[in-house]
Amino acid sequence: MNPSVRNSKDESLVDKIIRGAFLGALLLFFSALMIAFVVILQTPAGSSVSQAMTSLFALDSVQMWWYVTRAAGLTGYFLMWLSMAWGLAIANKILQPAVEGSFTYDFHEFLSLLGIGFILLHVIVLLFDRFLPFNVFQTLIPFIDTYRPFWVGLGIIGFYLFLLVTITFYMRKTIGMQAFRAIHALSLAGYLGATLHGLFAGTDSALWMTKMLYALTFIVIIFLTAYWLIIMNLNKREKAEAAAKAALAKRQTQRLRPNQR
Ligand code: HEM
Repeated sequence: MNPSVRNSKDESLVDKIIRGAFLGALLLFFSALMIAFVVILQTPAGSSVSQAMTSLFALDSVQMWWYVTRAAGLTGYFLMWLSMAWGLAIANKILQPAVEGSFTYDFHEFLSLLGIGFILLHVIVLLFDRFLPFNVFQTLIPFIDTYRPFWVGLGIIGFYLFLLVTITFYMRKTIGMQAFRAIHALSLAGYLGATLHGLFAGTDSALWMTKMLYALTFIVIIFLTAYWLIIMNLNKREKAEAAAKAALAKRQTQRLRPNQR
């Protein structure tokens, strides 16, 4: 057996043991920290901390879940935006010299899944919210709720589009690259729906910071999409020109042949 192969196998086993031990220790540490925190909160000294936390996170207010859904919505929007921007940067080959190909795809996939996780949290928490109550049907069927139905409906459609794009990522071989690319382009419509949804259904849109977030992220997507369309058209034109040249050259050689005989 090649000693270098055995060595690398041994190393990977040692790596696994070290990583497992490290994760176990980390889990134990955080569990102990949590238990200590809960115990301290029960003491007279901890009660002031408990009160401060309750007022900071509005834990005793009816709006608590509403705050969570808004925070999850904004986080989900940002992650989906980052995933879109990353995907467009891959398509435009902007990242190619700096980062490795497989990492860029993995990261793109990871961001989409994380974004969908936060959007699911955004929607599920709405079901528990007594301040802005929603039932299951109102979260699933667009335009039937009573709170800003048009803008909430756009969010629901946007979510379905993101879900479709993410699921078909794992079905590329089954559906074929052409269908995969066509479905992937729908993420632009999903993003537009999600942006309008956040802007016009969201309470935080009244803040200048949130307006800036939507404006800056939107501009980046517009720029990257325009760049992608230009590059795609240039590539198509180049291919068409090359094909036309090849056809002309073929015709000329065919015309020359009878004279050569
Ligand atoms: C593409 C998927 C979605 C994204 C990225 C998204 C993101 C957001 C964002 C950023 C906000 C603004 C939060 C704020 O300003 O406080 C928001 C608000 C809201 N979203 Fe979504 N959302 C999505 C899907 C949905 C779905 C499927 C529903 C289901 C009903 C929904 C219901 C709501 C409601 C009711 C609000 C208003 C909350 C408030 O600010 O008072 N969203 N969403």
